Amino acid sequence: EKGGYPHFMLKEIHEEPDAVRRCLSPRIRNGHIELNISGLPDEALAKTERIHIVACGTAMHAGLVGRYAIESLARVPVEVDIASEFRYRNPILGKNDLVVLISQSGETADTLAALRLAKEHGIRTLAIVNVPGSSIAREADDVLYTWAGPEIAVASTKAYLVQLAVLYLVAVKLASLHETLSAKEESALCKELLEIPEKIQEAVESEPAVLECAQKLKDAQHVFFIGRGVDYTLCMESSLKLKEVSYIHCEAYAAGELKHGTISLIEQGTPVIAVATQPALYPKTVSNLEEVKARGADVMLVCGKDANVEADLAANVLRVPNVHDVLAPMAAIVPLQLLAYHIAVLRGCDVDKPRNLAKSVTVE
Ligand code: M6R
Repeated sequence: EKGGYPHFMLKEIHEEPDAVRRCLSPRIRNGHIELNISGLPDEALAKTERIHIVACGTAMHAGLVGRYAIESLARVPVEVDIASEFRYRNPILGKNDLVVLISQSGETADTLAALRLAKEHGIRTLAIVNVPGSSIAREADDVLYTWAGPEIAVASTKAYLVQLAVLYLVAVKLASLHETLSAKEESALCKELLEIPEKIQEAVESEPAVLECAQKLKDAQHVFFIGRGVDYTLCMESSLKLKEVSYIHCEAYAAGELKHGTISLIEQGTPVIAVATQPALYPKTVSNLEEVKARGADVMLVCGKDANVEADLAANVLRVPNVHDVLAPMAAIVPLQLLAYHIAVLRGCDVDKPRNLAKSVTVE
C-alpha cells in the first residue's frame, strides 16, 4: 500500500507532481482558467471585494501563499485567519465578500464552525477541499476539489501543494475578471502553471542534496527558518513540518524582524535556514543571513537556480528549479518537506504517526 516507499509521507511527496497535474490541467483551457463552480459564476466572482481565507495548520499556511498570489495578481484584498481565531473574533464581513475555507479532510471542527458562521452572516462560502463528500464540502455554497487522492501521513505534504495549485487558479481567474492581467499575461501564467508539475518533479529529485542537510541537522535542538514575503510563509510551513515529524523545536521568523528580539537566541552553531526564492527580496534576506552568520549561526540557504550566491555565505545551498516568481512556493517547499522527512527518519521518529497528533482534528 506504500507503493514500495518506507513511509506514506515519502510516497505522498513523490506523488506531488501527478497530484498537481491532475488538479490543474482540467481547469486550464486555451490560455484561460475554467473553474466551473456552478453556484459562483464569473459575474459573481468579478464582484468580490474582499476575501477571507480561513483554515488550520498547513491549510492555513497554503492560504497565506494564496494571499500573496491573489493580492499581487488581482489586487483584491485578502485576510487570512486561523479558524479557531476567526470564529471567536466577531469578524467584519461585507456582503460582497467571499469566505474561502481550506481543508484537506473537510472535517476540521474549527474550519467547519467558521464556515457555518460565515453562512449565518449570509456571506458566500467557497471550500477548497480534498476529501469528496466531507462535511465542509457538503455545507459550503461552492467547492473546488483538490483531487490529490487520499493523504495518509499525518503531516500534510501533497495536500498543501494542490491547495496552492487551486489558489493560483483562483488568483489568475480573479485577475482576469478584475482586469489586472491582460489576456496575454493570463495565457503566459497558464502556460507556466501547466509546466509546474515538471518543476515539482525536478525539486523532488533534489533528494540527495537534502539528505546531506538532514545529516547535519539531525541532532539539532533548535532550528530557525527565516524569509521575507511569501518565503516567510514557506518558513512557517517548513517549521511546522519539521516540528511535527522530528520533534525539534523550530521557529519561523520574518527575516527583517529578527533584530527586534529573536537574534539574541543565535549563538555558535545555531542552525538557520533561509528561504530566498524572490529575486526582489534576495539581497535583503542575504543581509539578515550575514547578521546571523556573524553571530556564529550555521547557515543553509534555499534559493532559485540562478541566484548569485556568494561563495562563503551558506554551508549548504539547496537550489530550486526556475519558475515564475509568483509560483516559486510550489517548487521551493518540496526540498523543505523532504528535509523534515529525512531528519525525522534519521532521529528514529514515527514519521507517519507523530506523537499526540491525529490526521483529522474533529474537536475544537
Ligand atoms: O484537514 P485539514 O486540512 O483541515 O487539517 C488542518 C490541519 O489540522 C493540518 O493541516 C495539520 O496542521 C497537519 N498535520 C500539518 O501537517
